[in-house]
Amino acid sequence: MTDDEYVIEADGLRRVYSGGFEAVRGISLGVRRGEVFALLGTNGAGKTSSVELLEGLAPASGGTVRVLGRDPWRDRAAVRPRIGVMLQEGGFPSDLTAAETTRMWAGCTTGARPVAEALDLVGLSGRAGVRVKQLSGGERRRLDLALALLGRPEVLFLDEPTTGLDAEGRRDTWDLVRALRDNGTTVLLTTHYLEEAESLADRLAIMHRGRIVTAGTPAEVTARRPARIRFTLPESVPAARLPLGLRAGAQGQRVEIRTHDLQQDLGELIDWARASDVVLGGLDARSASLEEAFLDIAQREQHGPEDALVGGGHRDSGDNGDHGDFEDRVVGVR
Ligand SMILES: Nc1ncnc2c1ncn2[C@@H]1O[C@H](COP(=O)(O)OP(=O)(O)OP(=O)(O)O)[C@@H](O)[C@H]1O
Ligand SMILES: [Mg+2]
Repeated sequence: MTDDEYVIEADGLRRVYSGGFEAVRGISLGVRRGEVFALLGTNGAGKTSSVELLEGLAPASGGTVRVLGRDPWRDRAAVRPRIGVMLQEGGFPSDLTAAETTRMWAGCTTGARPVAEALDLVGLSGRAGVRVKQLSGGERRRLDLALALLGRPEVLFLDEPTTGLDAEGRRDTWDLVRALRDNGTTVLLTTHYLEEAESLADRLAIMHRGRIVTAGTPAEVTARRPARIRFTLPESVPAARLPLGLRAGAQGQRVEIRTHDLQQDLGELIDWARASDVVLGGLDARSASLEEAFLDIAQREQHGPEDALVGGGHRDSGDNGDHGDFEDRVVGVR
């Protein structure tokens, strides 16, 4: 990944902690100028460990990382003034006010925005004179963001920027990130809010156990997951007449079918139900959501081997675009 258009590039990036634990196991990603890129993953997936390497806060144990064309660890002096960093857990002297904290930080920042402007950007103007220890958790998070924005960074790293914010504060932050992006700022953020990733991110990657499992635009990532059809089959259906490869044992039970061709399979099911005069109880059909893509990956954790698939061992065609057989797509008969 050597294309100049990438302002953040990682190739085979690894991070091994001192005890020998490998938290980042060879991730590669590229973020283009003016893009919002979201890094998702369960607790402990390795997001913060990765972001810290991109920020130049720690050296990589393997692989390469480039931010604005330079190594953020070795060329820290050149890279740091051009990036903004909001850590997952910031820390402030608690006796200073919001304005004093911002002013202190501005003193260490080349070309800093005026303090009032920075606080205004994050909606903290009215709290400027309040001591940090008296700010709410969400307000402290916003103060963190104000500090990250002080130096008008070209590249902004936000590790869980909206955790602890109320719904309005979260949406204000989204608007701010969009406005920054529209002005050409490149943003890499982590989040546990899938709605946030779906709404904000131009592209995203989902990490699991130190690796990137899937990446792309939100639409691409969800399109790789199968859609779902659910219903209850009445007891009276003759086994021989079941559609879509359903087995006889499915009668009277809740059925879940996963499919990469929702229109075709739903059409077949409804045609069959009409012709057979069968009522499909609680029929529900929906395309995959980002949440489902995320949960499929997260559940691999519980199912043991790293590449175990969700659905109790039934193949769901995964990310490879393979449509599989009908039998494979009947993933849950409960
Ligand atoms: N300093 C450290 N020494 C040893 N292991 C660490 C250290 N910091 C993190 N880890 C481990 O590395 C793994 C990844 O942690 P990391 O903080 O990167 O996850 P994360 O994806 O950011 O999770 P979260 O969503 O909870 O913030 C975890 O298993 C964690 O316990
Ligand atoms: Mg983290």
